[in-house]
Amino acid sequence: MATIAYKCPEITVNIVDLNEARIAAWNSDALPIYEPGLKEVVDACRGRNLFFSTDVQAGIADADIIFASVNTPTKTQGVGAGRAADLKFIESVGRTIAQHANRSKIVIEKSTVPVKTAAALERVLTANELHSGTVGKRFYILSNPEFLAEGTAMADLDNPDRVLIGGQVEQAVQVLVDIYAHWVPRERILTTNLWSSELSKLVANAMLAQRVSSINSISRLCERTGADVSEVSRAIGTDSRIGRKFLNASIGFGGSCFQKDILNLVYICEQFGLDEVAQYWQKVVDMNEYQKKTFTGRIIHALFNTVSRKKIAVFGFAFKKDTGDVRETPALTVCDMLMQDGAMVHVYDPKVKREDAVTEFKYHGVEVDDKLFTFTSTPEEAVEGAHAIVILTEWDEFKTYKYDVFYSKMMKPAFLFDGRNLLDHVGLQKVGFEVHAIGKPKISSDSEPINRAGSFSMPDPTY
Ligand code: UDX
Repeated sequence: MATIAYKCPEITVNIVDLNEARIAAWNSDALPIYEPGLKEVVDACRGRNLFFSTDVQAGIADADIIFASVNTPTKTQGVGAGRAADLKFIESVGRTIAQHANRSKIVIEKSTVPVKTAAALERVLTANELHSGTVGKRFYILSNPEFLAEGTAMADLDNPDRVLIGGQVEQAVQVLVDIYAHWVPRERILTTNLWSSELSKLVANAMLAQRVSSINSISRLCERTGADVSEVSRAIGTDSRIGRKFLNASIGFGGSCFQKDILNLVYICEQFGLDEVAQYWQKVVDMNEYQKKTFTGRIIHALFNTVSRKKIAVFGFAFKKDTGDVRETPALTVCDMLMQDGAMVHVYDPKVKREDAVTEFKYHGVEVDDKLFTFTSTPEEAVEGAHAIVILTEWDEFKTYKYDVFYSKMMKPAFLFDGRNLLDHVGLQKVGFEVHAIGKPKISSDSEPINRAGSFSMPDPTY
């Protein structure tokens, strides 16, 4: 919305939310989320044509176009628990709009929703329309899913690969096309029917996650055979039909979208009796779980099969760099498994707060033992006396550290597990570390560094 306000000075954007604390934060200098470039855009527009308020009623009454951007979490109970999207917020937005709308409105689904949600929204709107005596007014429903990724949100919005708008009434679709056309070339603004637009969002995320799971599955095979997953990635990525992006092997994907959307897709397929299709996509999520667990298994195995009472320095807790977001971060599984085994985990992350990590653990039913889970304000504190460094997020600053100094402060043998293939592994090995990376054979001072043929060893089958 801030980008729309910035690009379209003649449009007034009112952002309304029931949460007073959040709106107060949006009106302050400390914005409630961190995103590179966001603050500059908010500062340029706030008070000009961008306003934040808790007056939902006035927001609805004043608007010609309403973006419904509520969250659609996974249902935690009842039918479809753990997989189906919980649409209670969408439904209540529909009821609130119907209640306060004084004239015809365009209502845009911005949230990621299961296919056919627009039909449900339309029913709620029109049913309540009749009851509140507003007959004669119409609601035009559009679907406009968002494809930005966290950490690069402002750049993605500024220069999107495409904007997708789904709708049944051409004139309403054109209103939204004209807004985006302020800065997006028209050939990149795709219009479809409502259901194609809704489904495309789920499929885009499922396909991206599938690429990560595909390369992660191959990373396991690389570890067994002596192939190097980065070389395989490069080799296949230069095939223009495959492309280079989203082929970085990792400890697994995280974030608020991928897993949620795939599980939702799986659930929808099952609802339509398409069991094979459901199983196909379920495997993408299963592979991700496997990746997180086997990486942690490798840590425990290398540290002589126990991490009990050992200090482990974890670099990065966010689900990826340039964000403080910890939703579904793979760090949860890794840290939980380490602590289950008795490790003392000391996390350093430039943007994540300990309380946010603890809240995410709680959401997943894990009560953290305070004695085992510490956040440090510097990487030095985390590595002091540690047995291992574990890289879980690809923050750029992790590449700039003096690892020889870290090495001198650690227990020996000192291990480094690079869950993002971020660092110079041969250089670290020269410093003295035993290095374990994703999809690469182990390198340590008592083994040959990786050579073109790849050093080959049969790893323990338990990880
Ligand atoms: C994603 C989609 O990219 C975006 O279009 C959609 O609107 C929301 O969901 P986001 O969750 O912000 O965006 O992050 P993304 O950059 O897609 O990364 C998702 C996860 O995959 C991260 O944990 C990331 O580290 C991991 N990943 C990504 C890899 O492990 N390897 C890769 O090559 C790419």
